Amino acid sequence: MVKFASSVSGMRSSEIRDMMSLATKPGIISFAGGMPDNRLLPVKELDDIYSKLTDSEKQKGLQYGPTNGLPELREALKKYLQAKGLPVSDNELLITTGATQAINILAKAFINPGDTIITENPCFIAATSSFKAHEANIVSVESGENGINVDALKEILDNLCEKPKFVYITPNFHNPSGALCPLSVKQELIKVLTHRDIVLIEDDCYSDLAFDRKGDADDLKTIKSLNPQGIDVCYIGSFSKILGPGLRLGWMLVPKYIYDKCELIKQPIDACSSSLSQVIAEKFLNTGRVKTYVESVVPLYKERCNTMCTLLRDLLPNGVSFTQPKGGFYLWLTLPDNIDATDVLKRSIDKSVVFVIGKTFDPYARKNNTIRLSFCNTSVDDIKLGVPKIVDSIKEVMSIN
Ligand SMILES: Cc1ncc(COP(=O)(O)O)c(C=O)c1O
Repeated sequence: MVKFASSVSGMRSSEIRDMMSLATKPGIISFAGGMPDNRLLPVKELDDIYSKLTDSEKQKGLQYGPTNGLPELREALKKYLQAKGLPVSDNELLITTGATQAINILAKAFINPGDTIITENPCFIAATSSFKAHEANIVSVESGENGINVDALKEILDNLCEKPKFVYITPNFHNPSGALCPLSVKQELIKVLTHRDIVLIEDDCYSDLAFDRKGDADDLKTIKSLNPQGIDVCYIGSFSKILGPGLRLGWMLVPKYIYDKCELIKQPIDACSSSLSQVIAEKFLNTGRVKTYVESVVPLYKERCNTMCTLLRDLLPNGVSFTQPKGGFYLWLTLPDNIDATDVLKRSIDKSVVFVIGKTFDPYARKNNTIRLSFCNTSVDDIKLGVPKIVDSIKEVMSIN
């Protein structure tokens, strides 16, 4: 029997992935997937862009490109990020194969087996999986409706024997909690991390999906854009939620010394990210279609979110709580401590509805009285049909506990 490497022998299929196979069965209403609705993807815009590509642009798309990304896309993306207030000229931009690759490259750059790193709890499952695959010792800090608990983080940092290599957080429309971390909390976090020699990885895949861009303008500021001195912030973004995950394009904006290492790490992984995707993404950016597409879908996500929140407010029993999301894809339900979300899920599946249980996002896979509901990928009609079934399942489980 061949032996797998120790770093991968503990890997198991995640419940989220198993659930996704269920979610695609006909007749199932799914609140499980963290992806845009197929029906909302910018197919016509893609047709238009592709039909106008010159032969030389198509050739470029079918060719290998530079590891750090096609120059045209890098320039267009720099302008896009600059308009979001990011310190583009003081940092380097690396195009990656999705934000997932950016996370993996940074994990490879910093983690030796046994090194301590810090995540939020709950945390994006692919990030924890990557950190585990690199054999990190994950210390997690509670993250709630206002994002990471900075006091808890400070206490942990003050008491840890070994300095963590980095802190990984998703401050804007967190996956899975949906939370938008207020500016004041971001500022507190900066104070706590300054001059500690701990890298901050800021995963910002969702901030463009704000329901009230003006009203929440302050809170939407990214930590990287605050340009904190004395902390090396590695900023990660993606085209997945603002164009389509099938492009498999993301990026990192990082200090030069980190970029140099990350570019070297990317080289043997895939040489370059898809050139064809990059040619297309550049056109989306330079024709202003990313902005118009986002402006066209966000009101639809908002409507779905509002429908879900209204139903939940009307139907949920006492003891179950949630905070109304201000953007992004996710709503996070907290059940009473003694209720196991897996029991709720089993009953929901019997009613042909799926979602993701909270334990999936706990780096220690313990806490399971929470549920992630995605509102991005389900029509208003299906939300009206599916949410009452989840609430019924919750009530059934609560009645026997
Ligand atoms: C917080 C977070 N980071 C990164 C990603 C991965 O994005 P990509 O498709 O660009 O790899 C996701 C996708 O769900 C996410 O929720």
